[in-house]
Amino acid sequence: MEKTKKKATVKFFNGKQIPLEMHKVRIVQSLKLVPVERRLEAIEEGGYNSFLLGTKDIFLDMLTDSGTNAMSDEQVSKMFVADDAYAGSQSFVKFQKSVETVFGKKLILPVHQGRAAENIISQTFVRKGSIIPMNYHFTTTLAHIQLNGGKVVELFTPEAMKIKSTHPFKGNIDIVRLEELINKSGPENIPFIRMEASTNLIGGQPFSMDNFKNVRRIADKYKLIIVLDASLIGENAYFIQKREHGYEEKSIGFILNEMCSLSDIVYFSGRKVSSSRGGAICTNSKDLYNKMKDLVPLYEGFLTYGGISIREIEAMTVGLYETLEEDVVGQSPSFINYAATELDKLGIPVILPGGALGCHVDAKQFLSHVPQAEYPAGALVAAFYIISGVRGMERGTLSSIRDELGNDILADLELMRLAFPRRVFTLSQVEYLMDRLNWLYHNREIVGGLKFVEEPPVLRFFTGRLAPTSNWPEKLVAKFRADFGDSL
Ligand code: F0G
Repeated sequence: MEKTKKKATVKFFNGKQIPLEMHKVRIVQSLKLVPVERRLEAIEEGGYNSFLLGTKDIFLDMLTDSGTNAMSDEQVSKMFVADDAYAGSQSFVKFQKSVETVFGKKLILPVHQGRAAENIISQTFVRKGSIIPMNYHFTTTLAHIQLNGGKVVELFTPEAMKIKSTHPFKGNIDIVRLEELINKSGPENIPFIRMEASTNLIGGQPFSMDNFKNVRRIADKYKLIIVLDASLIGENAYFIQKREHGYEEKSIGFILNEMCSLSDIVYFSGRKVSSSRGGAICTNSKDLYNKMKDLVPLYEGFLTYGGISIREIEAMTVGLYETLEEDVVGQSPSFINYAATELDKLGIPVILPGGALGCHVDAKQFLSHVPQAEYPAGALVAAFYIISGVRGMERGTLSSIRDELGNDILADLELMRLAFPRRVFTLSQVEYLMDRLNWLYHNREIVGGLKFVEEPPVLRFFTGRLAPTSNWPEKLVAKFRADFGDSL
């Protein structure tokens, strides 16, 4: 694989810094914007939970990039030549080759999606009393580790919690605290150190290669293994290329390989990294592979399909090769950076610098009058949907859990995440989003809080139902009509 790259950037004569799409759109899906009154009804029917909205009522679906990135023509065409077989499919052989090329790992366990990998890794390595240090948790990761009796310890740096920062790597783990934790807990109680590339819940923020090399150094010192969540690794590699000294001339492929060579186990959600479906766990250690292998036929499917349709394995294979392209992994971050920078100019509190996955609005500042116990990030997502038809996702206390006494564990950050799935939206749609968010910011005092009316015990944010603490949604609609007339 080529180890260096020289990519020319396109400068605009007018000096503007706008992202330039390096693809054209050949298949489209039409969108509809239902009136604000219907949007109010829809969010009421959905229990003020954006997961429970139907797409017929959604204009821009910015819930997630999971399984919603646009596929390339190459990906779609390869789905038609899939070698369907329960065992021994040649499509799986192609997939193995792509994982080896892109991640440098030879032994691959296919799984139907990212959390299935977390299930297998947690069941294999986590025991009651285990401690798992990490840069930050992801919701499903935490749930699987806890189900197996383990405890997650997050060792993020103070910079990670600063909404507006210029730090290029807010996803770094605190190396000093990592070593302290290992000494305090005893390395025998730490089944692995987990690093998440482009830390999802804190604004898609990357870690640096230098930080990761230090994690490897500590892991070697205490004979610990490193598990890398590579669901957003392409974007993390892109940020390393753009922000880390010494990597400016390195290709994305070189950076991906280096990141994976520092890890013992790499797992990923194919729904994200390869713009397809599926996922996998990979390693070069026969011993680690053997420890996990038998759980795949038990939970997923045979070792050559892992619960994924073979067509999707073909799409995943091509999608993995495409993560080597800067234009592919840089598309979403460049749009996010554009939106975050412009929103910041309007005085709207957003996470800076822009990260991967989505533009993150700080609900603690945006709705500073709504107490955290009334889920300001959830309220902001509901309010923004009502006034725009844009569906975001709550990433705050609602997505958190309760303690043993039944009290909410208040999240470190209260965020509305507006996901930018790769190559899906256009700049005019981003302009619309910014316009409506600006209007909502000027009318933010109308928005109140939410309370649970139905709360599932595990991963409550997916299916829980809520209600507004007052009639603020009706007031918001009335103000929208007063300001926008008969506009949608
Ligand atoms: N790890 C990370 C960092 C993720 O972002 C996700 C999913 C998973 C693991 C689980 O993968 O969905 O394929 O089971 N993130 C999605 C999101 C759901 O919307 O952020 P999965």
